[in-house]
Amino acid sequence: MQGAYKAYQQFLARRPPAHHARYIFPFFAGSYFAYRKVDVERVTAIAKSISPDPSYVDVGCGYGDFLEKVRTRLPNATGIEKEGGIFYAFQIPKPDYIQLVPVEGLSQPVDLAFVGWMEPGQDFRRPVARWAKCVVTTFDAGGQCGINGGCEYDEFGYKRIAWWRTPSWIDVNAELMNRYYTPSLDAAKKEQLAKLRTAHNFWYVYARPDVASRIRSGLKAQLNKEDAGDRYDFESVLDECGFHYKEELPALAGNRKLWEVIFD
Ligand SMILES: C[S@@+](CC[C@H](N)C(=O)[O-])C[C@H]1O[C@@H](n2cnc3c(N)ncnc32)[C@H](O)[C@@H]1O
Repeated sequence: MQGAYKAYQQFLARRPPAHHARYIFPFFAGSYFAYRKVDVERVTAIAKSISPDPSYVDVGCGYGDFLEKVRTRLPNATGIEKEGGIFYAFQIPKPDYIQLVPVEGLSQPVDLAFVGWMEPGQDFRRPVARWAKCVVTTFDAGGQCGINGGCEYDEFGYKRIAWWRTPSWIDVNAELMNRYYTPSLDAAKKEQLAKLRTAHNFWYVYARPDVASRIRSGLKAQLNKEDAGDRYDFESVLDECGFHYKEELPALAGNRKLWEVIFD
């Protein structure tokens, strides 16, 4: 971590273009999944479909980049993070709404647990499933949820309601590297590589049977009023890298459109 933090500081000292840091140093400056404002709105609408004043916890929230956005809509949302050292080692203030406890310390019911990208091999499901009515989880396709870990909650009595696909930070990072940080690539080669871009991050929405239909309706209502034009500044990088809202990626099999919600 010390080495990564030093590299992050050195990168910032070179005054990189706006928002590149969040896709090159996701832990320090962003998140492991690339998101838009519509994702925050979907997740918070799901929480509000369970209760008008829902309880929400971001499990393994790191510095809380996504959580901070969620709190603009759910001011009582909290996060839990097991590594207190990430704040103290780099003198980064820890917000009061992030508790330094492992997920195993969760001890009361929660309407929505958000599990944003666990490390391969980490399996948070059992403690989360003990308390949450709904779980929204994001994970990378291709090995992250392997033999020792897991991302799917069906076996814990949940029903998957819906899912959608977005890029992971690695997908965006690869595009940024090709475009800005690999001077040896000529324009034709860059264009050829851009055609191969793909998006590996999935968002799955799981619900207990008693709240499933409310969540389905709540998410549908949110999608009907979704306005992708209302966005965060950093979404410009996603557009520039060819990860537009509802963009269809030829290199993908199956559901090819980014951010398109598929109901189960
Ligand atoms: C890959 S990072 C993801 C951070 C953030 N959710 C994101 O997507 O950018 C995983 C985080 O989960 C935390 N973590 C790992 N095991 C945990 C546990 N048992 N309880 C709480 N947090 C945990 C790690 O310390 C780390 O900050």
